[in-house]
Amino acid sequence: MAGSLDEKTAVVTGSSNGIGFAIAQHLATEGANVVINSRSQTRAQEAAEEIDCSSGVLPIEADVTDYSSLRSLAEQTVDEFGSLDIWVNNAGINIRGPAEDISLDDWQTVLDVNLSGTFYGARVAGNRMIEQGTGGNIINISSMMGEQGQTGRTPYNTSKGGVNNLTRCLAVEWAEHDIQVNAVAPGYIQTDMVDDAQDQIGFEKQDVVDRTPLGRFGTVDEVANCVAFLAEGAHFMTGEILHPDGGWLAFGWGSKE
Ligand SMILES: NC(=O)c1ccc[n+]([C@@H]2O[C@H](COP(=O)([O-])OP(=O)(O)OC[C@H]3O[C@@H](n4cnc5c(N)ncnc54)[C@H](OP(=O)(O)O)[C@@H]3O)[C@@H](O)[C@H]2O)c1
Repeated sequence: MAGSLDEKTAVVTGSSNGIGFAIAQHLATEGANVVINSRSQTRAQEAAEEIDCSSGVLPIEADVTDYSSLRSLAEQTVDEFGSLDIWVNNAGINIRGPAEDISLDDWQTVLDVNLSGTFYGARVAGNRMIEQGTGGNIINISSMMGEQGQTGRTPYNTSKGGVNNLTRCLAVEWAEHDIQVNAVAPGYIQTDMVDDAQDQIGFEKQDVVDRTPLGRFGTVDEVANCVAFLAEGAHFMTGEILHPDGGWLAFGWGSKE
């Protein structure tokens, strides 16, 4: 059966598990060749073996904070599949702590992975798409926290706010090349990152459920659906930030009832 992304090639950074893996699986189901990326070749290989599709799957180790390794990833992608059409900047981390004493190394690490890593990935992809002359789709995985202040999350929320405006800047700058740059900024999605938060700061999952109008956590597949929609490119949107957040940002103050 024909998929909406047949003949396309997609890179998904940080796709060894969680949201990134679900995105890679959805794009592959729609017919795209996919590159699975992790900081470990073993984890990338293991994830690639789990992808269920008839298109090509290529595991490549690269750290998104290392620009030259992302350039090499793009070259290997084009050598294997012949083009680069979709790039999803998904790799991300969170280190939590009070702003007055979180270590400067931790601050820098979060900014390096979440913000610089997204810029590096977008730049590698943008250069290749400009060279190809075929346009393309770049999708940045931000967070609804890019729109909000929260205690103990200053590096993460700041980095995602930066990703939102990076998305708008690149969308405007690369529109002349028909490169659409959009972001998906989820609310709380059940992944290891959420379990880490529970371990690190003891947050209560029920509090999230109670604060969310739809009354539950989102799923990785719901985020992947948003990315697949953007990756198809038939929406006249660029510089847009989609929020699969169960209504979190829409909800102001007061009772949900
Ligand atoms: N979960 C949520 O509630 C939520 C909400 C909003 C936004 N997000 C965003 O969604 C994205 C994915 O989150 P997740 O919850 O799926 O996280 P996760 O389960 O912790 O997965 C993170 C992924 O990123 C990879 N990664 C981390 N640092 C990397 C680096 N320097 N270079 C390359 N890959 C790297 C990890 O791969 P290896 O460890 O194998 O290298 C892993 O595949 C992140 O950008 C996150 O901020 C998540």
